[in-house]
This record gives sequence, structure tokens and C-alpha cells, in this order.
Amino acid sequence: MAAQTLLTRQPFKGLWVILAIGFNAFRLPLWMLYYIPKFLRQHPEWTYRQAIGVRILKAYLNTISPIAHGTSTSLSPGAEGKRWVIVKPAKPEVYTGIVKKDEEIVPEKLGGTWYPKTLEKYEEAQGEDIVLHFHGGAFVIGDGREKDAGFAARTIIKNTTATHVFCPQYRLSSIKGGRFPAALQDAITAFQYLTETLGIPANKITISGDSAGGNLCLSLLRYIADHPEAGLPNPACAWLWSAWVDPGKSLKPGVSGFDPKIVTDYLNEEFGAWGARTYAPSPKSGITLDHPNICFADNAFATPTPLFFSTGECEALYPDDVKLYESFKAVPGNKVVLQVERKAVHDIILTGKVVGFEKEAAEAVRGAGVFLEGSR
Ligand SMILES: *[C@@H]1O[C@H](CO)[C@@H](O)[C@H](O)[C@H]1NC(C)=O
Repeated sequence: MAAQTLLTRQPFKGLWVILAIGFNAFRLPLWMLYYIPKFLRQHPEWTYRQAIGVRILKAYLNTISPIAHGTSTSLSPGAEGKRWVIVKPAKPEVYTGIVKKDEEIVPEKLGGTWYPKTLEKYEEAQGEDIVLHFHGGAFVIGDGREKDAGFAARTIIKNTTATHVFCPQYRLSSIKGGRFPAALQDAITAFQYLTETLGIPANKITISGDSAGGNLCLSLLRYIADHPEAGLPNPACAWLWSAWVDPGKSLKPGVSGFDPKIVTDYLNEEFGAWGARTYAPSPKSGITLDHPNICFADNAFATPTPLFFSTGECEALYPDDVKLYESFKAVPGNKVVLQVERKAVHDIILTGKVVGFEKEAAEAVRGAGVFLEGSR
């Protein structure tokens, strides 16, 4: 723990990065040779590109996790230009119960990126499907902008009936003031922006989220279910990509947050622990990481929103995601489906382009699109 905190400070942080770059620059050519024979790859059926891509992403996460190097976010439009919007918090009565327990965390202005372009006005007559997508990154990295969520948004637009995707840059827990319930407040703000400001009927909105974003999706649905007084409608559908079921598990001593059998994935435990440690609610709020708005293992709930679960056969969260699906399925009235992508690693809708799983990501998204149409 002491070494861990030291590494998050300069000059140690900078030294660590220099060492890591040197170390990985040395290892890269070795991987490039090592993975030539198929049987030496993490999975014998993976392509060369997948083997290398997964190895590089793993090295990247191994580098940033010990130094807790999160994404630095800004509310300025940046490269997104006109596709970037700023959303004001909704009426105060929309934020109640669980999101009001920590007085230091209050609703704030939220930025977000539209794909393929900003939706200025919703044309009810055309009945377009709109997706509200929460990016992943253990609550500590990512911003939903082009370089982060562009692949996911485009894959959704190309492979489903959705015409527009909105990706909020919700507050990260790697930044001060970003612990729970900051991201949930932002999710509420984003949802209200679509339903109230833009007037999109809830039955035309699909909420979607990968990894930590999937956790956030479930958290929003749970909030809608538990707080009818907030007046939020139920969305048409929810797509949960490699959802991070139980962040607190990464911090429990002697318990592995991830399935130990799965060595193929790029996820590492330190990344999860960093996310969980910083996302954890303030002890003063009386909420812990086991709260049913944060932990969904054994905390399934009834929802009128149909749920599409997606997971990869070779991912560290595979067993948790299968159990998650089964627990939601066991609740009377819930409409759920699970689609497993063969040979796929964690969260390919986010990282598909980096790790060479574009085809599998598109396959998963097509399944989600068919589920949406079938659940009307
Ligand atoms: C589905 O998405 C993938 C990945 O973005 C894209 O390459 C493909 O063209 C899309 N499929 C269709 C039918 O447009």
C-alpha cells in the first residue's frame, strides 16, 4: 500500500512511466516473435493481431493502474466541436434518496458527445431509436469522446435501428469529487436531458453501457425502480456489455475480483481495485460498495425494461456476467437475454478496434439490435 501511494506521486510516477515504456519497448519485439505460432497465443484460435493487441492493452493497463493515472477531462468541446454539448442538472426533485446521501457530491454540469451528429430536435414522426451510452473504464478512465467511445457508437449506429448515440462524460472517480454517487447523478442528468430537454419518448431510448458503464446502467435502472417519486420513466431497453457486476469484490482480501481460470483477458486486478477504491462512497454517507445501486451480484431487481446481456467467453468477468443474467432472469416479469461471443475478451464494444475483435463486437451489437426490435 505504501509503495502504491508513493507511485501515484511525482517524481516516482514519471520514473515509472519511463521504465514501463522502456520495458515494454523491449518486450514488444519478443511478443511479435512469440505469438507467431498459433499454439503459443493466449487462445489458439486467435489471430496474430488479436494476440498482440490483447498483450499490448494488458501492458497499458498494467502501466497506468499502479500510478493511478486516470483520464483528465474538460468541459470544452475539443476535437468533438459541434457534436459536444453541455447539459445542466435537472430539477432538484429528480435527485433523491440514494443520490442525496453524500452532501459533498451534488449534481453538476455535464458534457457529452453525440454520434454521428448532435440531435437538435427529436422528430417524433420518424420514430428514431436513440441510445444513451455509458463508456467503461473502471470509473477511472474514459470520456465518451471520439477516441474513446467512437468505435462503440459507430458500431451501434451501423448495426442497429438506432440513428443517434449520446455518450456522457460522466464524472470519474480518479478525479476529486468523482466517488459514488457522482456518476449516477450524471447518468440521471443525461437521461433527463433526452426525455425532458429533447422530449424523446422513453420508449425510444435504449440505455447502454460497457463494463463500469454497464454497472452504471443497472444503477440507473435500480434508481428508477426504487424512486418513483423522482418521476423518471423506464427506458425501452438496456444493453449491458461485459457489465462490471461487483466492484467491491476487487478489494476483498483473499478474494479474486476476477475469475482466476481466465488468463486470456487483458484485465488486471489492480485496475479493478483502483476503480473500486476511488468509486467507494464516503463512509459518512452510510453506503458501502455492497449497496444494491453498486453491487448487482445477488442484488437482481424487477424492471419493466428488457435487458440484453453480452459477455465474452474469454473474459475475466464471464462467470460473473453469466450469474448476473441468471439472477435477473429468475425475477418474475423480467425480460432478459444473454449473448456470449465466442473467443472474445472483455468489453470488445469499447476495445474491439484495439484488440482486433471488431467482427465479434459487431456481432454482439447486431444481437442487441434484434433484441430491441423484438422487445417492442
Ligand atoms: C457493423 O459494425 C462494424 C464495426 O463498426 C462495421 O465494420 C460494419 O460495417 C457494420 N455492419 C453493417 C451491416 O453496417
